Amino acid sequence: MGKKLYIETQGCQMNAYDSARLADLLQEREHLEYTDDPQEADILLLNTCSIREKAQEKVFSELGRWRRLKEQKPDLIIGVGGCVASQEGEALLRRAPYVDLIFGPQTLHRVPELMQQRHRSRLPVVDISFPTIEKFDHLPEPRVDGGKAFVSIMEGCSKYCSFCVVPYTRGEEVSRPFDDVIAEVAHLLRQGVVEITLLGQNVNAYRGPEHDGGTASFATLLDHLSTLPGLQRLRYTTSHPLEFNEDLIDCYRRIPQLVSHVHLPVQSGSDRILAAMKRNHDRQDYLRRIRLLRAARPDLHLSSDFIVGFPGETEEDFQATLDLIREADMDHSYSFVYSARPGTPAADLIDETPLAVKKERLQRLKDMISASTLEKTRAMVGTRQRLLVESASTRYPGHWVGSTFNNRIVHFAAAQDDLAGQLVDVDISAALTVNALRGERVQS
Ligand code: SAH
Ligand code: F3S
Repeated sequence: MGKKLYIETQGCQMNAYDSARLADLLQEREHLEYTDDPQEADILLLNTCSIREKAQEKVFSELGRWRRLKEQKPDLIIGVGGCVASQEGEALLRRAPYVDLIFGPQTLHRVPELMQQRHRSRLPVVDISFPTIEKFDHLPEPRVDGGKAFVSIMEGCSKYCSFCVVPYTRGEEVSRPFDDVIAEVAHLLRQGVVEITLLGQNVNAYRGPEHDGGTASFATLLDHLSTLPGLQRLRYTTSHPLEFNEDLIDCYRRIPQLVSHVHLPVQSGSDRILAAMKRNHDRQDYLRRIRLLRAARPDLHLSSDFIVGFPGETEEDFQATLDLIREADMDHSYSFVYSARPGTPAADLIDETPLAVKKERLQRLKDMISASTLEKTRAMVGTRQRLLVESASTRYPGHWVGSTFNNRIVHFAAAQDDLAGQLVDVDISAALTVNALRGERVQS
C-alpha cells in the first residue's frame, strides 16, 4: 500500500499555492497518496505563517497534536515549512525535537531529497536557504480544479516595512522569468481555467527577466496575459502603493479582463504612523493613486489591510485612518492589532497603548468597514453580474453558488447541469448577508 501525505497550510495565499505545488510534486515524484485525514497519514507537513504572534503560536499547538500521533506511529515523518521554519531554523528542533524536516518557502522543491537524507541519516534535516527562484523549475505544472487558478509570479519582499517579517522569512524580491509565467498561464487556460490570480508579496513590483535580456514590468505582463485565448478574469494580490504607477493604472482603461477590484494595503491613514512604519508614502500619495484609478475604472471596488495600535498610535492617528477609509470609499479590509515580531525594527519601539484600547479601535474600524461592505452589497441588487460558478449550494437545494468580480457570493437556481467552473450571468434580486446575494440566472 502506498504511503499517505497530509499537508496543513497556515497564512497567506502564497503558502496555499506553495502547498498545492508541493502536494503535486510529492504525488508525482514519491507516489504519495494525498489524504485529508492527518490520523491516517505517514507524512505530515505543516506550511507555517509567522506574520503575527498568534499565527506562530498555532504552529506549536498543531505540532503538539502531531507529536501524539507520532508516539503511536514512530515511523511518522513530520515536516515544517514556510515562514516559521525559515525564521526559526534549527531552533525549532529545540522546542519540537520530534520534527524530521525543516524547509523554507524557497526550498520546498527539495523536500523529496530532504526526505531521503532523513531516511539515510535518521537525523532531522534542515534546509532554509534562499536559492533565488530555482524552486519553480523543479515543481510540476499546476493541476486544475474548477474555473480558477493561482500563479505565483514573484517571491519575497524588499520593502522592509518596520513591522514586517516577510523580507526576512521569504527573502528579497525575485521575479519569475516572463516566458515561464506566460507559459504557466497558457497551460492553465488550455485546461479550461477562466480566472487567473497572480500572486506575490509585492506582486506589482514584478520585474520579469525576458529571454532577450530585457525586463518586463507588471503592466507589460498584464498586457500579454490579456491576449491569451480563454482568459476571462484577471486578478492579483498583494500590490504595494509605491509600485502602483500610472502604467498600471492605465491597464484599467485597456484590459477588460482585469476585474474592477483592487486590494491595496495602506496599513494606516496617519502620516506620522506611515513614516514610522517605513511605508515610504504618505496619505495623500495613496489617495491620489486611488483617485487616478477610479478615473480609469469608475466602478472600482477597493480593499485594504490595516494595522491598528502600531507603537505610538494615538486616538488622533486612528481617526485619520477611519477618515482615510471614508475618503477612499473602501469596500473591505483585513485588519489586525499590531503584533511585535522579533527581529523587526518596530519591535524595539516603545508601545504604551493598552491592548484593550487597541482592540476597541480595531472593533470600531471593523464595524465601519462592514457597514460599507453591506451598503455596497445592497447597491448590487437590481444589477446584472457575471459569476464564476464555484459549486452546488449546500444551503439551498437546487441552487449553485458563484462569485462576482468583487468577491460577493451569489446563490442562484439552476437545473442540474454541472456549472462549476463556468461563467454565468445573473440578475441580482436580493441581499442575503453582508457579502452574499441571491440572483436569477439570465438565459442566454
Ligand atoms: N505585501 C503586503 C503585505 C503582506 S503581509 C503589503 O504591501 O503591505 C499581510 C498583512 O499582514 C500586511 O498588509 C499587514 O497588514 C499585516 N501585518 C504584517 N505584519 C504585521 C504585524 N507585525 N502585526 C500585525 N499585522 C501585520
Ligand atoms: Fe511586509 Fe511591507 Fe513587504 S508589509 S511584505 S515588508 S511591503
